[in-house]
Amino acid sequence: MRTQVGIIGAGPAGLLLSHLLHLRGISSVVLERRSREHVEQRVRAGVLEQGTVDTLIAAGVGERLLREGLPHEGIELRYGGAAHRIPFEKLVPDRRITVYGQQEVVRDLIDARLAAGGDLRFEVDDVEVHDLEGAPYVTFGGERLDCEVIAGCDGFHGVSRPSIPEGVLTVFEREYPFAWLGVLARVRPSAEELIYARTDRGFALHSMRSPEVSRFYLQVPPDADLADWPDERVWAELKARLETIPGFTLETGEILEKGVTPMRSFVAEPMQYGRLYLAGDSAHIVPPTGAKGLNLAVADVNNLTEALAAYFATGATDLLDGYSAACLRRVWRAQHFSWWMTTLLHTFDDEDAYGRRLQLSYLDYVTSSAAAATTLAENYVGLS
Ligand code: FAD
Ligand code: DHB
Repeated sequence: MRTQVGIIGAGPAGLLLSHLLHLRGISSVVLERRSREHVEQRVRAGVLEQGTVDTLIAAGVGERLLREGLPHEGIELRYGGAAHRIPFEKLVPDRRITVYGQQEVVRDLIDARLAAGGDLRFEVDDVEVHDLEGAPYVTFGGERLDCEVIAGCDGFHGVSRPSIPEGVLTVFEREYPFAWLGVLARVRPSAEELIYARTDRGFALHSMRSPEVSRFYLQVPPDADLADWPDERVWAELKARLETIPGFTLETGEILEKGVTPMRSFVAEPMQYGRLYLAGDSAHIVPPTGAKGLNLAVADVNNLTEALAAYFATGATDLLDGYSAACLRRVWRAQHFSWWMTTLLHTFDDEDAYGRRLQLSYLDYVTSSAAAATTLAENYVGLS
């Protein structure tokens, strides 16, 4: 079997790349370890930057997103018994974010690929990449796929990055002493905008998916066990961390899904080796506080599409050669922003009273100075 681009992983990065390449007349095969149902039901990100929305609309997969996505022009920071709105419409006019579940993006992309006759293989075992510096090919489940280029879109735990020979990559990494417990619940959102809450009990985030479904996250210990978090405890803790301003009541409802996500910052440089190009979480991870991971994956894929289109049209390799450098500037801005939002809003067990005062001082600055609030707003909606 032969294709132009062998794509490992059917997350947002792999599916979008396959679709954008198809629109440029470039063939690909997507190899995914999990089932279609699993990939479509995996609850993860929810915040799309304007640039991500624009990409999906231009690619012809924005119809449901435009209908069901929830545009937001601000977020709330809640701490010290008060609510502080960061007004995007004032600080970064004409740019907004859209709340639309990652699994909906994945569903829309799978539908588009299959409608166009795309070759998506789910539940493939033992994917391995070979001859990355020569004539690359992928083996899986006893089959062989020859390609001109391989795109490693297989997330943080995939096979692509570890296939790069030792000594090529430089890794930059930070782990955080906590995790997020994510909860999806059938209950009307208790607020119109996202609430990022800092309390002495830890961080909490109130997000949403639709007028009937809310999404929440709680800072929990890194080794948290779901068995210790029955629904009643989840609601009690969410109430304790969110019902901290006068007049706010958190509505409760049926919990549909719960999961624990570790928090990590990670970058592997360069994002390419020979004819293998990494995109999305396979090359970099951010803690989710800044809502950047999915958006970075889309930005990588846009760069890779342009580079591959030039290569297949004319044989030019300059954009491919510069792919990693082109991505890393945005990657590092998002790394800093995600680290900054995380340290601003979480409690750290080893933090002394001085550190807590610094945190509160910075929160006061961000919520009282237009310059500081603009820094948050322009990073949150996404730098171009
Ligand atoms: P993935 O989505 O991880 O996809 C990789 C795919 O490769 C998977 O389908 C996997 O099964 C497959 N795969 C892995 N190994 C193999 C193999 N050996 N062979 C074949 N296939 C393989 N980002 C945001 O932008 N905004 C947010 O609001 C946000 N919130 C988040 C909240 C949570 C709780 C979490 C966990 C993440 C959040 N993120 C957010 C991050 C975002 O979900 C990821 O950055 C995004 O999924 C990256 O997409 P990807 O396609 O690179 O990787
Ligand atoms: C969501 C996730 C995030 O990481 C975030 O910062 C905001 C919202 C969400 O899943 O809705």
